[in-house]
Amino acid sequence: MPNPPDPTPTVVVVGSLNADLLIDVERLPRAGETVTALATAVAWGGKGANQAVAAAGLGARTIFVGAVGRDSRGTEALDDLARAGVDTTGVDRVEQPTGTAHVLRDAAGENLIVVVPGANHALSADHVRHVLEHLDVDDAVVVSNLEVPDDAVLAAATAAAARGWRLVLNPGPARILPPELLALVAVLTPNAEEVLLLGADSVADLLAAGTGAVVVTRGADGVDVHDGERAGGPRRLPALPVDVVDTVGAGDAFTAGLAVALASGARLDDAALFGTAAAAIAVTGSGARGAPLDPAAVRALLADRAAGA
Ligand code: RIB
Repeated sequence: MPNPPDPTPTVVVVGSLNADLLIDVERLPRAGETVTALATAVAWGGKGANQAVAAAGLGARTIFVGAVGRDSRGTEALDDLARAGVDTTGVDRVEQPTGTAHVLRDAAGENLIVVVPGANHALSADHVRHVLEHLDVDDAVVVSNLEVPDDAVLAAATAAAARGWRLVLNPGPARILPPELLALVAVLTPNAEEVLLLGADSVADLLAAGTGAVVVTRGADGVDVHDGERAGGPRRLPALPVDVVDTVGAGDAFTAGLAVALASGARLDDAALFGTAAAAIAVTGSGARGAPLDPAAVRALLADRAAGA
C-alpha cells in the first residue's frame, strides 16, 4: 500500500500549457481523408499543466514553470491553474501565442494529438534555471516533458540535480534524447510506443545510459517498472479496472501521481501504483485533465483493489 502523501510534498513541473480543441469523430481519419466531427469542445491542457493540476489535486504543493503568451488565453490559462491550486509565479509571458493542441478522439477510445507549441517553444533554459535556483523549497520532485525545448528540459534536470532533487521525465512527444539528459533522469515514464523513439533500442539501453528507472505505461495493461536492480527483473503492475470515458491525459495523471508519491517518500513500485490509481480516476472523466483527483479517492481505489473488490 503506497504511503499517503505527506502534508507538504512539493512537485515542480517544468513543461507545457495548451488550450485543447477536443474533436470527437466516429473514427480517426486516414492519411488524405476528410472526416466530419461529431462534437467539439475547448478545455485547458498541455502535458505540463495537466501534470501540475493533477499533482495539486493529489495534495502536493505544486509549482508550474512554463511559458504562455501575452494573449488573453495565456491570462485565462494561468487563472485556471491558480484556481486549481498551482503556483504560477514561475511562468514566463512571451511574445508567441499560448500553445494549442488539436485532440481527435474516436468512438473506440483512440486519439490523435497535434500540438501547435507557440509559447511553449519559447521557454528558455535561462528562465528555467533562474526559477529553479531561486525556489524557496527544501526538497522537491521535478517533473518535465518534451513539449518544451530540450535545453529547457536539460536546464531543469541540471538545476534539479544541483539541488539534490529527482527528475521524473514524461518523454512525450518522444524524440531522441541527449545522453546527458538521460543520465540525469531519476524516472522516465514513456508509453510503449515512445520507448523506441528515444534513441535507445530497448529499456535496458535507457538504464545503461544512466536513467534511474523506466516505468512504461501500457494503458489497460498497466505499467512495467524497470530499475535494473532488483532480482526478478521488471515488474508488471496491473491497471485498475474502471469505466473509461477518455484516455487523453492518462499518462499525465500517472506521471503526476508517481511524482507526488515519490515526493512523499514512497518507494518506486508504490509510487507507480499510486500513479496507476490516479490515472484510473482521471480516465473516468472527459478531456486531458479528466475527472478531478484527490488523494482520498486514490487511496480508496487502492484499498478496494487490495481488498479484492
Ligand atoms: O497528454 C495530453 C496533452 O497532450 C493534451 O492536453 C494536449 O495539450 C497535449 O499536450
